Amino acid sequence: MRGSLLVDNIGELVTNDIGGEGGPLGIRRHAAVLVEDGQVAWVGPARDAPAADRRIDAEGGAVLPGFVDSHAHLVFAGDRAAEFAARMAGEPYTGGGIRTTVGATRAASDDELRDTVRRLRAEAMRQGSTTIEIKSGYGLTVADEARSLRIAAEFSEDTTFLGAHVVPAEYADRPDDYVGMVCGPMLAAAAPYARWIDVFCERGAFDVDHARAILACGQAVGLGVRVHANQLGPGPGVRLGVELGAASVDHCTHLTDADIDALASHRVDCMCPDGVHTTTVATLLPGAEFSTRSPYPDARRLLDAGVTVALATDCNPGSSYTSSMPFCIALAVREMRMTPAEAVWAATAGGAAALRRTDVGRLARGARADLMILDAPSHLHLAYRPGVPLIRQVLHNGVPQCR
Ligand code: NIG
Ligand code: FE
Repeated sequence: MRGSLLVDNIGELVTNDIGGEGGPLGIRRHAAVLVEDGQVAWVGPARDAPAADRRIDAEGGAVLPGFVDSHAHLVFAGDRAAEFAARMAGEPYTGGGIRTTVGATRAASDDELRDTVRRLRAEAMRQGSTTIEIKSGYGLTVADEARSLRIAAEFSEDTTFLGAHVVPAEYADRPDDYVGMVCGPMLAAAAPYARWIDVFCERGAFDVDHARAILACGQAVGLGVRVHANQLGPGPGVRLGVELGAASVDHCTHLTDADIDALASHRVDCMCPDGVHTTTVATLLPGAEFSTRSPYPDARRLLDAGVTVALATDCNPGSSYTSSMPFCIALAVREMRMTPAEAVWAATAGGAAALRRTDVGRLARGARADLMILDAPSHLHLAYRPGVPLIRQVLHNGVPQCR
């Protein structure tokens, strides 16, 4: 859409601009935002707002940066509602259902997979997610991982190769051979469509030696590292991620003091002078704890240690079938000892840090014009009014999205 656009009559503007006043969320009142060419061109007092071609009246609603959902598995077929029902009746979550989704995904056509990604991407956008990372990991053959990522790349700049999600049934007796295949032909086929590499480092999935080998192969071809770590029990995943300079270690449900020390001691300023995030972020996924009846991670421990925390949905058909960042914010505030402001920051700027991006997760001159207008006067309402569709309008690249 051409021409300039002014968003005004804003109840509360969350900028995440920590350089200014307004606390950690950089909250400004009586402010307006000018959008030009898909970017934020100006933020300032409404009374000084430049003339614009068009105007959106926020009607006193809060305006926030679009959510940055830095962890989602959207390329799959089928669902596992029956597995969910069994869990609610007391069955544990083991990750064993991943192979069910692998079977359904391999059997699906490209168009069926594409339609699912499109549907979930649109669902997430309606709930304010303007950036969403998308992983492969339900193909687990060379061809199925490559096509999963090819389809993911049609919808996201942040695509992640998760060929090491589990060892598929046909390799059950030869995990070393599977790891060799992931590092060889599978990585070669997947890498052209991927920005990141991820491994499920967990008992029953990949041990620390296999995980290190796979992540190192990905790094060698230029992929950034992220790790599924410490989800089902304590383990070496978080420390491996820190050792390899991962952008993010995700889940972090079962952390020891040593894990937190490792994350905290590698903490450098979230934003370096050259604009590159170098810290390893702890990405928490409370939708997974909700849906697996697991204890929630203690975000307070991480925050008090100075660790950068992100929130994401983990949207997938097994452990967390939600695309809703507002739901995750509400859970984080109610169950994980985060303040509403910390949770909103983690779902926006925190997600951007986990993806090492500086163009999203904030509203300042030069940022991508990704924002949402709430049917509520403040960010507090996202946790205070759980389950309520509070997001009235979303702009992505400066373009108002259809409801
Ligand atoms: O992040 N833990 C590994 N992978 C997903 C779950 C995948 C599934 O159950 O299908 C997760 O929770
Ligand atoms: Fe996940």
